[in-house]
Amino acid sequence: NKLTRAKPEAIRSVDEITAGRRLRRMRKADWSRRLVQESHLRVDDLIWPIFLIEGKKRQEEIAAMPGVFRYSVDLAVLQAERAAKLGIPALATFPNIDMSRRDARGSAILDPDNLINQATRAIKEAVPGIGVITDVALDPFTNHGHDGILSEGVIVNDETVAQIAEAAVLQAAAGSDVIAPSDMMDGRIGAIRDALDGNGFQDVAIMSYATKFASAFYGPYREAIGTGGLLKGDKKTYYIDPANTDEALRETEQDLAEGADMVMVKPGLPYLDIVRRLKDSFAVPTFAYQVSGEYAMIKAAAANGWLDGDRAMMESLLAFKRAGCDGILTYFALEAAEILAVR
Ligand code: PBG
Repeated sequence: NKLTRAKPEAIRSVDEITAGRRLRRMRKADWSRRLVQESHLRVDDLIWPIFLIEGKKRQEEIAAMPGVFRYSVDLAVLQAERAAKLGIPALATFPNIDMSRRDARGSAILDPDNLINQATRAIKEAVPGIGVITDVALDPFTNHGHDGILSEGVIVNDETVAQIAEAAVLQAAAGSDVIAPSDMMDGRIGAIRDALDGNGFQDVAIMSYATKFASAFYGPYREAIGTGGLLKGDKKTYYIDPANTDEALRETEQDLAEGADMVMVKPGLPYLDIVRRLKDSFAVPTFAYQVSGEYAMIKAAAANGWLDGDRAMMESLLAFKRAGCDGILTYFALEAAEILAVR
């Protein structure tokens, strides 16, 4: 073959090609790899989302999320203790309430003694040192699975905001440390800030689900909180189009101007470009939510022996840090914390 038989003098050595720069030098041993590692995953980076269910001594595994359970409040407290022992800084709670308590307006979100508020009180009493982050979206409380009040086929923005702001005050009164609105209504951050401040909760923080995309990756979550079968249509009139990144920037800028203390990108891995853009643009505490579908994908592949589940888990979490996250909401929090503890 004439093509491969170049003149010997035309072939440069690798030393000539690289001018002596050999990047493999620092990769050759474990000690030097550790020395030059740029991003690190620590237990302090983990926020553990947990699902709640009514009743006592109940735990139910979620089919599409092996290893993830819905816990009654008493058992959720034990899980909070486990998490605190491992050093996990915070939990995020999501309720699955009885269908009989769900209605078109999601009224049960305004019950001071609803499942999420009960859990906050119980967890803060038993484990005061762990942060409790509560979602104020209406979807666990509506009988149509949408995050807002549904009127003649439309999710009405302003009425929803008023209700969410009221619910945020009840959550703060129950002891929530961080209000995390995941509904994507316009003006919610400012309204929640005003309501909290007006009721003496100046120290309760807001973590905005600033850029929440209309994603297919939420599937298993909807099974977990029991909205999968309820949801009519989709959430495209309020969540961001997965195609958009400038819009994510504008939404985040708006939420920060309205008073968000922290911002979040959701889903996680498919949206790391958004994380990087937000971190570079705003330099504020930035989080990502590795959502239910992302968890399910890794677990399903691992269960089939198609990849090493632990390695894929740790690599995916490290990728969030590399992209610029200050922390990650992940269903892997406990498992990852256990691995980090023995390192
Ligand atoms: C809705 C909400 C969603 C998630 C948390 N709160 C999305 C949805 O159901 O549309 C998803 C979390 C996950 O998938 O892990 N307020």
